[in-house]
Amino acid sequence: MVNVAIAGSNGLAQFIANFLSTKTCHQFIILSRFPKPTLVSKGWQVLEVDYANNSKLRYTLTGVDVVISTISGQAETALITAAAQVNVRRFMPSEFEGPPSLRSFSSLPDRGNSTSISLLQQYGMEYTVFTCGVFYERFAPGGMAAFQIGQGTRIDREGEYLINLRSMTAEIPYLSDGRNSFICMTSAQDVARAVVAAIDLPRWPTEIRMFGDRVSLTGLVGIVERVSGQELKKSFVSVESLRQLYGQAKASNNVRQQSRFAHLMDAGNGCYDFDTCNLTSLVNIQPQRFQEWLRLVWSW
Ligand SMILES: NC(=O)c1ccc[n+]([C@@H]2O[C@H](COP(=O)([O-])OP(=O)(O)OC[C@H]3O[C@@H](n4cnc5c(N)ncnc54)[C@H](OP(=O)(O)O)[C@@H]3O)[C@@H](O)[C@H]2O)c1
Repeated sequence: MVNVAIAGSNGLAQFIANFLSTKTCHQFIILSRFPKPTLVSKGWQVLEVDYANNSKLRYTLTGVDVVISTISGQAETALITAAAQVNVRRFMPSEFEGPPSLRSFSSLPDRGNSTSISLLQQYGMEYTVFTCGVFYERFAPGGMAAFQIGQGTRIDREGEYLINLRSMTAEIPYLSDGRNSFICMTSAQDVARAVVAAIDLPRWPTEIRMFGDRVSLTGLVGIVERVSGQELKKSFVSVESLRQLYGQAKASNNVRQQSRFAHLMDAGNGCYDFDTCNLTSLVNIQPQRFQEWLRLVWSW
């Protein structure tokens, strides 16, 4: 039995807690800045934390073996420091996106991920970065917000990313050399399942890569058209023009638009693309394919 602390109470944290409580004997606590009566009513233990209070954080983490973080920035670095001080054995930082090696191509603002990894290396703590590409939930009815995921991304509402499945429109970024960009994707449920399975591994590699599907952006549109039986109205937008639109959104202080354009640029620039996946050699999990997931969530 392992003592686990999940930092944050968003949808991903809840998926992880659900797998921990239903599929394992591990004990877990959820760390949140606020009381969470809905989570407590599920029988889960929620401890209120103030990430600026190191001594209380150390006290809360005493006896914890593994921290799974869904929080970012200064709060996460404070959590890593406190965890190192009380000898927490393993730390999974809040990543769950594209590979860190492609971060330098990203147009998104840094949420402190690189700092967190540097700190984990500095403290010599065992860690693993979960790389899973984009969540399928970006294409769900109600978007990621319907699962309480992605508030920090500012593209969590339905239809804000690549494809709007209600209006059946798609915005497909392309590179000036005409290369078709690829994207890796996984359902957040499968990510949570894999995260929980990884707790039992004797050793963690510094990165665990998984995806349910790897498709080109036009291939993604093709899947939606096949599954829905409808043709999408497609507009192709170059990464260069997205960069200009991003600049305009920044000048007018439109944060949501900035985020949308940055996410589209990242898709076009291949920031979520990787072709090797070491998850299946580590744990026995076959992630759901995008097509099956899409059919189920939209009842097509
Ligand atoms: N691959 C994808 O497509 C994708 C999409 C979305 C997210 N993600 C990943 O999923 C993880 C969660 O991201 P998210 O956007 O869903 O969550 P988020 O909105 O950034 O928040 C995560 C948690 O952080 C805590 N938090 C928020 N603001 C904070 C602050 N100022 N100080 C301290 N704590 C704060 C909150 O916990 P409490 O309120 O309980 O304290 C919240 O539950 C991240 O690792 C992200 O990279 C991946």
